[in-house]
Amino acid sequence: MSGELAELLFQGAALLVPRRFADAVAGCGAVVQPWLMADDDAQISWRSTVSDAELVELTESHGGSPLPGWWDRLREHSLGWVTARSPAGQLVGFVNVAWDGGDHAFLIDTKTRPSHQHRGLGTAVVARAVQESRAAGCEWLFVDFGPDLTPFYIESCGFEPTPAGLVRLKERS
Ligand SMILES: CC(C)(COP(=O)(O)OP(=O)(O)OC[C@H]1O[C@@H](n2cnc3c(N)ncnc32)[C@H](O)[C@@H]1OP(=O)(O)O)[C@@H](O)C(=O)NCCC(=O)NCCS
Repeated sequence: MSGELAELLFQGAALLVPRRFADAVAGCGAVVQPWLMADDDAQISWRSTVSDAELVELTESHGGSPLPGWWDRLREHSLGWVTARSPAGQLVGFVNVAWDGGDHAFLIDTKTRPSHQHRGLGTAVVARAVQESRAAGCEWLFVDFGPDLTPFYIESCGFEPTPAGLVRLKERS
């Protein structure tokens, strides 16, 4: 292990965090707390406030086509969501966890700002969603994605491939 990293046992999971952040992480509460990981510029939180306008801007930053008002409509159906913020407070990463109110949770809308991609941030945000879904009592966490994202979800985030089915209910407009 590098001299500037410390291994920390936190809620049953072993994490690597920069040594200078270890005290802050050890003192965190149970529900909304900073989560520090490979990209040590970013602070990762569960169910922290995030606005519809921030998510529209983040989605536009990676070339997506957001519908304003989307997050305000979806939030009430969410088990929770993970945000990653830069030290200046800019939203740089996000994922939402929808659920069925019971055992099944569904990962949707994983996003990393292009300026922060390929630093492990998306993997860390998804890892936090996995941990919080487990803590909420869910048994399964699903995600679906195009074949191009196999290296991210299967190889980096650790999802197991499984057969799945899909029906398009609306034609593309
Ligand atoms: C997919 C996404 C969230 C990944 O974010 P990230 O912070 O760059 O992810 P990580 O740094 O944790 O990536 C870890 C590894 O996953 C793989 N990976 C990351 N992004 C990938 C992509 N877009 N396509 C394929 N593999 C990818 C790579 O192997 C990467 O390792 P590397 O950096 O050494 O190449 C980001 O590319 C993104 O926001 N894309 C646009 C929105 C999107 O497509 N979301 C997914 C919806 S299902």
